[in-house]
Amino acid sequence: MCMAVPKPARHPTEGQVALAEALARGETWQGEEIHRLSTARYTDQARHELERELIFGKRPVPLIPSALLPHPDMAVAHDDYRRPLVITRDSEGEVHVLANSCAHRGTRLVDERRPIPARKIVCPYHAWVYRSDGSLAGLPRQDSFPGLCKDDHNLVRYAAHECGDIIWGAFGKDPDFSRLDALCEDLEALGLGDMALYKRRTHRVKANWKMVMDAFLESYHVKRLHQDTIAEYFADAVATGDVMGDHQRFAVGRTEYAAQVDTSDWQQVREVATFTYQIFPNGVLVVSPDYANLLVVMPGRKVNRCRVENFMLVPGDADPGEFAPRWEKSWRLLDEGTFGKEDFGAAALCQAGVDGGVQTEMLVGTLEAGMTRFHDLIDREIGIQASE
Ligand code: FES
Ligand SMILES: [Fe+2]
Repeated sequence: MCMAVPKPARHPTEGQVALAEALARGETWQGEEIHRLSTARYTDQARHELERELIFGKRPVPLIPSALLPHPDMAVAHDDYRRPLVITRDSEGEVHVLANSCAHRGTRLVDERRPIPARKIVCPYHAWVYRSDGSLAGLPRQDSFPGLCKDDHNLVRYAAHECGDIIWGAFGKDPDFSRLDALCEDLEALGLGDMALYKRRTHRVKANWKMVMDAFLESYHVKRLHQDTIAEYFADAVATGDVMGDHQRFAVGRTEYAAQVDTSDWQQVREVATFTYQIFPNGVLVVSPDYANLLVVMPGRKVNRCRVENFMLVPGDADPGEFAPRWEKSWRLLDEGTFGKEDFGAAALCQAGVDGGVQTEMLVGTLEAGMTRFHDLIDREIGIQASE
């Protein structure tokens, strides 16, 4: 029987403590005036192409939680960024983001959306063999490729990075992963690395990808749209937040409870405050007291379509026999109800409305100020001056 390795104690970061203390003081974080956003940002296909090229073609983007590939020599196919990818963890534990296309004649190598053991990846067509780091290990009848240098025929490799217990990829030249450092320090403090994947599901949403992000950038809708699911947990709650570079961080809780906890004790903080991270450009992490949901929002080819992958993470050392019914209830509540039916449903209805073309701009109130910050950043990335 092997001994459990003691896990390092997790402590909240200074920023997380500051937010918990702001909650305890009853401070809110909101804007001061009305903003207007043009509806063209959700309907203009040319603008959408620019976002795909200049944001999703360049910036680091979240792919999957590390917990999806928990062991060395594993691989999983990933297609929702409209690129055929295979994400691997090699024998040394390092992650790689590779093209899912054989260097011989281009065949799709891994067709499984579930993680599979992958000490070697063998092409199903002529059996070229790749190592889990994407290097070509061998090919049958190499004599039929006279002069071929194997080192020149590894799988195409994209930039990969693992931090905050998330695997990130980037598809442009010289991506700057350091923009994730402060965020990842927070995510590591949350202990996602000690969690295991409970379930994942990809939602196809009839809305622009930013419509879905918008739903996680404002608290205005929570007590109304979510009245049948989670609104009761947030009744009378205070929402506070701040920015971390391009990312935003929110904490929602009840002042009277927050004022009673020891903010240096992580578990106590998480019992009274729900932290949500808007990971720029397209991730959302919602941290509940004993589980977490990572949502990755991926733009479709059409401006008014996207996919959202929801990963639910649960404590890795908890007994599934004891906790599974509770997790299943939480999964249904959030994945089917709060996210699927309510947030994504509202995004699709809002998209249908703006697609109708009646309104050319939308109003953003002070409780929705996170949206304005987000859209200003999007504009900056694609070189557009004003957010209106
Ligand atoms: S296409 Fe992969 S081995 Fe031929
Ligand atoms: Fe919501």
